[in-house]
Order: sequence, then structure tokens, then C-alpha cells
Amino acid sequence: MGKEHGLMHIETLSTNIGAEIFNADIRDKTQFDAIWEAFKEYSVLVIRNQAITPEEHLAFSRQFGQININRFFQPLENQPEISVVEKLANQRRAIGQDWHTDHSYDAAPAMGSIMHAIALPPYGGDTLFVSMASAFEALNDEKQLFLKGLSAIHSSKHVFGKQKQSKYRDDSGRTGNEELAIQDALHPVVITHPLSGRDGLYVNPTFTESVTGVSSKESKTILGALYRHCQSPNFQCRIKWKTGDVGVWDNRATWHKAENNYHGHYRLMHRITIEGCTLSGSKSLAQVP
Ligand code: SIN
Repeated sequence: MGKEHGLMHIETLSTNIGAEIFNADIRDKTQFDAIWEAFKEYSVLVIRNQAITPEEHLAFSRQFGQININRFFQPLENQPEISVVEKLANQRRAIGQDWHTDHSYDAAPAMGSIMHAIALPPYGGDTLFVSMASAFEALNDEKQLFLKGLSAIHSSKHVFGKQKQSKYRDDSGRTGNEELAIQDALHPVVITHPLSGRDGLYVNPTFTESVTGVSSKESKTILGALYRHCQSPNFQCRIKWKTGDVGVWDNRATWHKAENNYHGHYRLMHRITIEGCTLSGSKSLAQVP
């Protein structure tokens, strides 16, 4: 099974989302068109076994678009465009361990993220993804219509800011720049994906604060029901990393989370984020600390 593109072989990871690419060399620019087509089709890719330098990681990423420098993560030494996603053997919290969509607090949220697996624990540490279009399409017509009329506020403040919630407190120094956490954005609860034209849910448990135009209780009920629905394994795929793999995901089409099930072991990933565009119906709210 699978598909062939020149030397490359593409295998589907699950019914609704994700593909695994073998025999690619991301340094070879002639392979990019096939990788881009696979990215549009599957939303999540794991390109196996890439022996690349940080510069080659950047050169590959630049083919997707402009690099967006993450404000809060530690950068790699001498490489401000590459974020370090690291968990030491003596740390308990893993960066990105809760379901989220990278940078949804921005009015023009990041298009995607491109992560290189540098050091992995002996077990665990997979990344899980959800297809937000599949989750939306599984809802009945009445629910879809109701959700299409709603918008929600997303924020960076309660996760990265000075007033962050206790569950996001982490004095390991892996995140910083609390004073830069001033972003609030309003996005439709259902977005039309800028590349595929498919409708998908665009709320997530980490950065979405509330649905607007309803009471706080109703907002909690709506978001709680959506979060339970989206976590169904039917909409998911899993990357089981091997050292050297490069994962690529579309932030407008997915949720993801890093499984934090390898305490006592080390994990290191290098992540690059790609600029996105303003989603139809989204806007930036006043940026106040
Ligand atoms: C992230 O949330 O961007 C990191 C995911 C991971 O480390 O698997």
C-alpha cells in the first residue's frame, strides 16, 4: 500500500489524519512539492530519518513560509528562529503536554510547526494529533450550524504571562518573556481552512478562554462538550518518534499534545514555527499587559 513519489514512499497513519514519509531527503529541494502536497492532504507528516543540521532544518522550513519566532520558548544557541523543546530527567512538566494549537492567541496564528527529534527517551514521548475538520464533520447539522455562529477569545496571558495559572507555572527557565504575553485574539469557533477550504473547529483547551456572546456557564458547557468530542481516538494519529525524524503539522487543522510518560529520561526537540495568515472572521483584541 502507500504512495510513491520518486524515491519517496508515503504511508497513511490513520483514517482521518497523518502520514509517514520514508526515503525522503528534506535537503533536496526537488522533493518539496511532493512534501507540500502531502502536508495539504494529511495535515501531519513524519518524515523519517533526516540527518540534518539546524541550518538545513531552517532551509527546509523556509520553503513553507516565513519563520515566526516564538516569543516564549528558549531559542537554540545562535539560532533565534529555532525553539528548544526539552525535558530533563529531573523535570516533571513537559512543554506542550496539554492539548493545544500553537499560537492560537495570535490574530494571524502560525500556519504550522516543523520539529526535529534530536534526543528521545527509551519509551514514551510520542506526540498525538487531532483532525479538527474530522471532528467538526462528525457533528450533526444542527450543532454545526450553531457552532458556525460563535466566536471565542484565545489568549497567551494565562499560559505564558505574569498572571499565569498555577498549572502552567514552571521555574525551569524553559519559557520566559512573561511581559510579552499580551495577546488576545477573537477567532470563529469554526474556521474555513485557508488551504483545503474544509471547515474545522478552532478552539483548544490551552489557549481558548471563552465563547463570546453567551454566559460564562454556557461557554464552559460548549467548550467542555467540544473538547470531550475532539478527544475521540477516531480523529487522532500518533507520531512515535525516532531520532532524526522531522514532524510537520498544520496548526489551523489540528490539535496536538506531547505525551508526558517518560519521567526520569531526557527528550530534546528543535521546533520551528511558520507564519500564518489572518483567518476569515478573526481579529486581534486590544493588547494590554
Ligand atoms: C509542542 O507542543 O509544540 C511540542 C510537542 C512535542 O514536544 O511533542
